[in-house]
Amino acid sequence: DGYSQLSAYEMKRLKNITENAKFFAALQLHKSAARLKQIATKRQSHVVKRPKPKKVEEEPVRRRSMRLLRVEPTGIPMVETPAQPQAERDLHADDDAVKCTPDITRYRESLSSMVLSEENIRKVVKSRVCSMAIHPSESTILVAAGDKWGNVGLWNVVSESEEGAHMFTPHNFPVCCMHFSPCNPAHLLSLSNDTLRCGDVTRAVFDEICRSEDNFSSFDFLEDNACTAIVGHWDGAVAVVDRRTQAMAPELSVDIGFRRTRTVHVHPLSKQYFLAAGAVDVCVFDIRHLKSKQNEPVSSLKGHIKSVASAYFSPVTGSKVVTVSADDKLRIYDTTSLSSTVTALSVIRHNSNTGRWLTRFRAIWDPKQEHCFVVGSMAQPRRIEVFQDTGKLLHSFYNLECLSSVCSINVVHPRQNILVGGNSSGRLHVFKE
Ligand SMILES: *[C@@H]1O[C@H](CO)[C@@H](O)[C@H](O)[C@H]1NC(C)=O
Ligand SMILES: *[C@@H]1O[C@H](CO)[C@@H](O)[C@H](O)[C@H]1NC(C)=O
Ligand SMILES: *[C@@H]1O[C@H](CO)[C@@H](O)[C@H](O)[C@H]1NC(C)=O
Ligand SMILES: *[C@@H]1O[C@H](CO)[C@@H](O)[C@H](O)[C@H]1NC(C)=O
Repeated sequence: DGYSQLSAYEMKRLKNITENAKFFAALQLHKSAARLKQIATKRQSHVVKRPKPKKVEEEPVRRRSMRLLRVEPTGIPMVETPAQPQAERDLHADDDAVKCTPDITRYRESLSSMVLSEENIRKVVKSRVCSMAIHPSESTILVAAGDKWGNVGLWNVVSESEEGAHMFTPHNFPVCCMHFSPCNPAHLLSLSNDTLRCGDVTRAVFDEICRSEDNFSSFDFLEDNACTAIVGHWDGAVAVVDRRTQAMAPELSVDIGFRRTRTVHVHPLSKQYFLAAGAVDVCVFDIRHLKSKQNEPVSSLKGHIKSVASAYFSPVTGSKVVTVSADDKLRIYDTTSLSSTVTALSVIRHNSNTGRWLTRFRAIWDPKQEHCFVVGSMAQPRRIEVFQDTGKLLHSFYNLECLSSVCSINVVHPRQNILVGGNSSGRLHVFKE
């Protein structure tokens, strides 16, 4: 009968909650929270101001009554280069290290010291990995993966036990984008085509922040306090979401003239600028100037012949952008001065023909390296590649015994030498020192 079924379900649910609570207690996120706070205060004491990108022609600022308009460009701390162990260089990378700057040479050595071993491979979600995020904590290596069926898996990599990974089902459709909150170490935000949720990993609940009929594709935070976010829609529009409002609908939804928006990314310093990428369009817009229709981009990044899978600003100054396109090219743009049209600075031939069973490649910058990015590859033996923004291949991560599949989605730790690649059956591969 209905009642006992319900209570059986309730009991299962309670058991789940208890198990989740145990998992998160084991993560000791409160400890990493304290550690993160320490790092944040230490960094603030030596903040380096960097020049913000100049827009070529200044338009008069049309003020809108949105809270997020108070966003100010801020200086951000220099990224410290991690300790560099001695290691053999990768034989498959170009052999002309002499041309590299000492920084890049050291970086290459650190990449060579990162290896994949059997115990650092784990099936974390049931199906194809569509998105990943890595927690900034240095004491716990916590990786989140979202799959095609709405599952989010969390894996405490260093934990020896089988219980090191835990899966939730906060969504019904592919989890297309995830970010840990920059201000609350317990919060993981996840986006699926119909909802944006905030998972509190200590309470194991995923609260709905926003719901839409218009098929979300990606999001990014507009402010470091993670209160507001820009969300891209598959049909091309972008929306602004403010978590402080009660409403479940976005605050503002605007037509940017795109047929598709696959990724959105906010400039790391001048947070009024965001990058949108879709069909063959990659443009920078100024959030302060958005109106419901006929939005003119600040800057258009030209040259894509087929659909663009991703476009991201370089992590420290935002002065470069890397894109991946179905025309089998990776393009790098100089966005130091955001002129109205920008042509590619360098173009790298790269097979991006992932086909229908694999998630499309996205080239992501190493958050520790302003000039280097990571991308999946179709090449055999299977590998994950690292390029410099000059177009030079710096390193290929591979392992003949352990890596036999394409890793479409990758994520790099913001402070440590850790790279995670996810494949199309939900398996994660962690390369670390
Ligand atoms: C409990 O968790 C499992 C996976 O962790 C899930 O498949 C199941 O639906 C959950 N049950 C309830 C009642 O929440
Ligand atoms: C999300 O995707 C599913 C399956 O493709 C579809 O049925 C549903 O309408 C989509 N939701 C939105 C809001 O587009
Ligand atoms: C929703 O967006 C996804 C990509 O994020 C796309 O594959 C899917 O076809 C879209 N669904 C609809 C109903 O437009
Ligand atoms: C994903 O990776 C695992 C482990 O490396 C491998 O066994 C599996 O076949 C891969 N999945 C696909 C679809 O290639």
